[in-house]
Amino acid sequence: MQFPAEPFRIKVVEPLKATTREERVRLLEAAGHNLFKVPADSIYVDLLTDSGTSAMSDRQWAAIMMGDESYAGSRNFFRFEAAVRELTGYHHVIPTHQGRMAENLLFHTVVKPGDSVPNNIHFDTTRANAEQAGAIALDLVVPEGLDPANRSPFKGNMDTARLDRVLAEKKGTVPLVMLTITNNSGGGQPVSMANARATAEVCRRHGVPLFFDACRFAENAWFIQQREEGYANTPVRDIAKAMFALGDGCTMSAKKDGLVNIGGFLALNHEPWADQVKHRLILVEGFPTYGGLAGRDLEAMAQGLEEVTDEHYLAFRIGQVRELAEAVSDAGVPIIQPPGGHAVYLDAKAIAPHIPPHEFPGQAIVVALYRDYGIRTVEIGSFMFGSEDPATGKPIAPPLELVRLAIPRRVYTKAQLAYVAQCVIDVHRKSADLRGFRIRQGAPFLRHFTATLEEVPAPAAAGRVG
Ligand code: F0G
Repeated sequence: MQFPAEPFRIKVVEPLKATTREERVRLLEAAGHNLFKVPADSIYVDLLTDSGTSAMSDRQWAAIMMGDESYAGSRNFFRFEAAVRELTGYHHVIPTHQGRMAENLLFHTVVKPGDSVPNNIHFDTTRANAEQAGAIALDLVVPEGLDPANRSPFKGNMDTARLDRVLAEKKGTVPLVMLTITNNSGGGQPVSMANARATAEVCRRHGVPLFFDACRFAENAWFIQQREEGYANTPVRDIAKAMFALGDGCTMSAKKDGLVNIGGFLALNHEPWADQVKHRLILVEGFPTYGGLAGRDLEAMAQGLEEVTDEHYLAFRIGQVRELAEAVSDAGVPIIQPPGGHAVYLDAKAIAPHIPPHEFPGQAIVVALYRDYGIRTVEIGSFMFGSEDPATGKPIAPPLELVRLAIPRRVYTKAQLAYVAQCVIDVHRKSADLRGFRIRQGAPFLRHFTATLEEVPAPAAAGRVG
């Protein structure tokens, strides 16, 4: 046993339906080979996302029963507000139904058209919300953050020299700087405390507030304790608090490190911004003491924010991701190194070099993992992010072709992930049989959610001898 065993025992179980390969072939046909369209109860191990897929604890379920569903002034809000203040130190706590609404409210309050918002790497919804509010979203991660083979311990770090230059050049047009902990779009890689401090220092020198995209703050703090000089004996919760203390606010999707199925918040110190956000909140989400959630959801979130910094839990959680990564990588499967906190990323270009990017090598692996083994994963490559040159119509590929195996929190056992590892190894071993895909029916934007695909036929037998 390489990682600590599950620090919980199982009180409620959700049976999983067994499907045959024939059924899965039929389901894939019906879904146009798009795994977003496959019914979830026909999936054995679902690694589509770690967001909103956590198992809640008995205490969180008990918290659900303590819901006070008053329209205004629910007692759950006050417990939730106190929990967020204690953790982050930020005074104004604004609940939202999930992370992207916190982003939407923040950017629509602080961004003027033509402004810029730097980040290590914006998550898709963060980028979209910043751009929709009229900003240019800038990704300023350190260069090693874009190199899959580089094993640096903090590949989520901000390039602070570039940030300094950007803030000098764009003086007066940067309303805030964001720092995403951990950096999901760069492989779930952490940001060091030293780098967060340096980022905060650059921001302070230029008079620009620093906000964290804090979805996976506890996982980030765990990596600091494990990897950064001087933190081995500091409790994870203290590390997280020290990091929040460097900033002026945060957006949060509690569907990750809040250990809940729905919920999020925006927390900040700047009172005029908080007032403006609350006005908009009433328009689009709800009254400021529930913000698009039920009272019971706030109570479960408050409880989750306490549990997530438990170090037995984190050792198990990060260990589980690492063990899956090591199992496949030791068998020769190319992955992004080192593994991040919430997911293992397969390097599809290296696994299926015979499939060109415009035929979606990542999607070929995604389909094989479901068709042959009942496992759902997600492509992050040309299918998700590819575009076309408007002049020539030629496909433009993103730099990496990846398949993400995101691990829900407290959901799957060691045996289930050992099964996943074996299946990934099998797909890699038989990768010469993988065939590419082409789009049958596309969509004007975010096509990976809805487009349908067909498999490119095998090369004609005519060309072969015998
Ligand atoms: N920021 C980061 C870094 C995220 O990973 C996500 C969501 C969000 C913001 C938005 O939060 O979903 O609650 O609105 N990431 C999920 C994922 C969807 O699968 O990585 P949300």
